[in-house]
Amino acid sequence: MTNMQHQIVGKPLDRVDGKLKVTGEAAYTADVQIDNLVYGVIFQSAIAKGKVIQIDTSAAVIAPGVVDIITYEQTPSLVKIPFFSPQQPQPTEKDDNIYYDGQHLGIVVAQTLEQAQTAASLVKIIYEEAPPTVTMAQAEIFEPESIFFGIMPGKITRGDVESGKAHADILMEQIYTTPMEHHNPLEPSATVAMWEEDNLTLYETTQGISSTQRGICAVLNIPPENVRVISKYLGGGFGCKALLKSHTILAAIAARKVKRPVKVVVTRSQMYTSCGYRSQTQQHLTLGATRNGKLTVITHIGTSLTSPFDDFVEPVGAATTMMYACSNLEVKYRLARINAGTPTFMRAPGEAPGMFALESAMDELAYLLNIDPIELRLRNHADIDPHTQLPWSSKSLKQCYQQGAEIFGWSQRNPVPRSMRDDEPALKEGFPPQVTDEPQRRHFLIGWGMASATFPSNAGPASVKVEIFATGEVRVQSGTQDIGTGTYTVMTQVAAEALGLPSQSVQFELGDSNHPKAPIAGNSITVASVSPAVHKAASAARDKMIQMAIADPNSPLYESQLENITVELGQIFLKQDPSKRDSYTDILRRHGLESIEAKEETAPNPESKQYAKHSFGAIFVEVAVDELLGEIKVRRCVGVYSAGRILNFKTARSQVIGGITWGIGMALMEKTVMDTNQGRIVNANLSDYLIPVHADIPNMEVQFVEEHDPYVNTLGTKSLGELPIVGVAAAISNAVYHATGKRIRDLPITPDKLLYP
Ligand code: MOS
Repeated sequence: MTNMQHQIVGKPLDRVDGKLKVTGEAAYTADVQIDNLVYGVIFQSAIAKGKVIQIDTSAAVIAPGVVDIITYEQTPSLVKIPFFSPQQPQPTEKDDNIYYDGQHLGIVVAQTLEQAQTAASLVKIIYEEAPPTVTMAQAEIFEPESIFFGIMPGKITRGDVESGKAHADILMEQIYTTPMEHHNPLEPSATVAMWEEDNLTLYETTQGISSTQRGICAVLNIPPENVRVISKYLGGGFGCKALLKSHTILAAIAARKVKRPVKVVVTRSQMYTSCGYRSQTQQHLTLGATRNGKLTVITHIGTSLTSPFDDFVEPVGAATTMMYACSNLEVKYRLARINAGTPTFMRAPGEAPGMFALESAMDELAYLLNIDPIELRLRNHADIDPHTQLPWSSKSLKQCYQQGAEIFGWSQRNPVPRSMRDDEPALKEGFPPQVTDEPQRRHFLIGWGMASATFPSNAGPASVKVEIFATGEVRVQSGTQDIGTGTYTVMTQVAAEALGLPSQSVQFELGDSNHPKAPIAGNSITVASVSPAVHKAASAARDKMIQMAIADPNSPLYESQLENITVELGQIFLKQDPSKRDSYTDILRRHGLESIEAKEETAPNPESKQYAKHSFGAIFVEVAVDELLGEIKVRRCVGVYSAGRILNFKTARSQVIGGITWGIGMALMEKTVMDTNQGRIVNANLSDYLIPVHADIPNMEVQFVEEHDPYVNTLGTKSLGELPIVGVAAAISNAVYHATGKRIRDLPITPDKLLYP
């Protein structure tokens, strides 16, 4: 790069799409208006196990406005959907089985949404019912050979677990449990499907336009060139919009049948049955250590639940294998099938529940050994990846601990449980209320807890097209997604900086499968995958312009050397003699061109395979516990993260605040409740499924330890999106123990668990 480095990248630029969003101009999928549009409403199974005997649509079909009704009998399977299609064939034979409550059974299409809703309520389904399997205790547990559809083994070992146990002075064994949890993105899933001849356009709420394209092609058996997927704005994805779901299939099939565009918006309640969830987990953790706190053994056996037909494992041991230097380890997965849909990825799949267990267990061990929890972690710090034995591409976890502890004031902590108290002053009646000298009303136990965070830093191949126009404008296109995290903004920054232009001159376009290909926005890989490609393509476009000037006898830069030239504000000039200058617009005009373009593709550097690539962090919390009520309030949070180079401090900080907020919800509130007789989710709404509101969230101090990682990619960026949920639940549980002396190993930590142990 030229001397423009760091002029725009790294700055806390406001979201370039912020104004469009707050003014309502940004058209999300459900906002898409198309002529002749009709509305689809999905009808679902009301039992959790059995068979469909008959679907009686006679009353629905004559209801006002109804255009058509399509049942599962006329579609490929709506439950067995290929995940990483097209490897997995889509079952097409008719399957009358009911596998779970809420299973999609068909779609009613009508002129208006209300008419479709009314007609859907008139569809009568006659079942043969069977008792469902709902709980882990009822289910048969098995050990899968591999997890994530064959990507990872079902069991990971190193060293010798028995000898590790024999060498331990202290052996600690505990079971930690986390409940079923659901994603609750602000924007529910939605599809607008439109056919023109054999060509399908899908406006879709998706984290992966290409994967949606591949998936729908596999399901409908059509070639990819006939399918265009568009997703311009997403109101959060968090994993539930990563894989193809059945509402999309139904919308596409319905639109083809009725020959009109069909809009389907998944209702908030349907979000609990239609888009996946995080399985409940039961995690058996064993930590063995010497008296001075050196880990001799770790075993982590995670049991999670899946659907009757897909093996989806919540990979709770993902971080356990690499987190601490310990030569004897076993991580193993167990699965059981219940009558529920297939779980899916949910923010930091594996790490979020897994690090709750591991980082709670480390705190328990610290108490058993009478060692400060940070000190215990430092004594077991993994200087290299203990599993692959590879060096880290970069790791600043120690700095995260140190900075976090300093900001938080950790050295002031008295480790003895129940040693810290705080009294809330009583208030005098009346208005405005005044503090009195009367005896205090509420006595709070105060607890301080901490935990580590980690998330792998991966990337995939990405391609980008850059066009420079004679008008001075620049268009950059990549088939990536902005799931609400700020892709539009940071890619604009990267392109503008490489081109030597102000960010306002750059229009970054994404979310269209017609754009050059980029990976799914999942696994926190977007920035690390796409920003190197944006940088490369923008640099190529800039160099192309400079070469044109150098070769042009009419340019003041004629026959200059490329390396002596720089660009600022669209002006191309000699570094030594800025009076010798040209500009993108002048060059294009002299050549009679409207624009030039450059297209580049990048792939992860093969050399980076010789490094273990992870982001890290440390989270510190203060809780206040009202002992009489069992109420827990998080009062303070300090999170310090190292995730390589930060491209935009503002959007990065927002990511972290979102992640910690979700971590607080995971720790204290979130739990999907299933009726154990009916197998039905009973809190499928935002009034009964609790997530934090502003009043639940304290001030957060967020810091980054910036790293200059030369191995990960040309920009030195690492994963950030999923990192900050990791460890929060453990830090809170550890703080609750410090406050109360009660160790809660079962999430969420609700008041009843403190009051009735
Ligand atoms: Mo993430 S759970 O890969 O959206």
